[in-house]
Amino acid sequence: MEIFDQVEKLIEEIKGYPVSNKEELEKFRIQYLGSKNTIKPVFSLIKDVPNERKKEFGQKVNEAKQTAEAKFKEAQTGLKSAGTSDKYKSFDPSLPMDGEWEGSRHPVSITMNHFIKIFEKIGFEVAEEREIEDDWHNFTAMNTPEDHPARDMQDTFYLKDSDKMLLRTHTSSVQARVMTTQKPPIRIIAPGRVYRNETISARSHCQFHQVEGLYIDKNVSFADMKQTLLYFAREMYGVDTKIRLRPSFFPFTEPSAEMDVWMGTDTDATKRLTKGTGWLEVLGCGMVDPNVLKNCDIDPEVYSGFAFGIGIERTAMQKFEINDIRHLFENDLRFLKQFSSAT
Ligand code: PHE
Repeated sequence: MEIFDQVEKLIEEIKGYPVSNKEELEKFRIQYLGSKNTIKPVFSLIKDVPNERKKEFGQKVNEAKQTAEAKFKEAQTGLKSAGTSDKYKSFDPSLPMDGEWEGSRHPVSITMNHFIKIFEKIGFEVAEEREIEDDWHNFTAMNTPEDHPARDMQDTFYLKDSDKMLLRTHTSSVQARVMTTQKPPIRIIAPGRVYRNETISARSHCQFHQVEGLYIDKNVSFADMKQTLLYFAREMYGVDTKIRLRPSFFPFTEPSAEMDVWMGTDTDATKRLTKGTGWLEVLGCGMVDPNVLKNCDIDPEVYSGFAFGIGIERTAMQKFEINDIRHLFENDLRFLKQFSSAT
């Protein structure tokens, strides 16, 4: 009987329908299991089937429906596992790498490690400290009075419900940590992340990295600082590098200075970088203020020292010609894959 042939054909059609990917599977679902599926209208043909064969016809149509349901389930689980387990079924960990990307260091880490290496060569040791600090180590010990603008809520992220705990705004807090726990001579380099409540733009971010340097001993002079920083600049920027120290102000150093490195104005790039002056501002520094030493129980009559703080992102951006600081924090693999370094 023709109507029976129609159901038979439908079952064959269901069996043969391709479902080898998600799109095909969805088409299959709409066609045979959706609200407007093509099995339903076939079922309504039952009215034309003679009574004695109605039951048989109903069973046939049910068979079509069950075939479709079974096929859908099977294809669905098959496709799900294909994405994951099939890949691992053939995974042999003893095989050599197939040339996939091995990973590389972040440009900030590369730059930071470069700084550390330079100072380690002349006897500085790495000191790492907490990012969540108290007010005392970040500000008070560092001779930053209560009403100093740096304490303003605008700049500092305080912890919720606390006016004493904060995210450190500079690595200078490590100076206080080290000076209250170690006796001079002290010669440390402190790399780490710092936070400031600043609007995020291409040039500034609310998180960045600094490297802090601190040297405390008997008879440490401004000339020692200058020579140390000149050594650093020459290691970092080349043997002929010239530096200049400009007077500046930091609450925790006296006198304070900012160090510029001579880049020249020969190329468009250096002109842009130095805003036409040829000088690139690289770090803040100064002789540790006697008040800071006193706060940390070090006798300023016996000991003196210098400190400096370098921003890492700016150096990394200049070194790798990165034009937007935000790239450094977005972890976009297309960006990160461009850097490679063993250290
Ligand atoms: N802490 C200063 C800053 O964040 C940098 C600095 C460190 C200056 C040590 C002098 C001495 O800008």
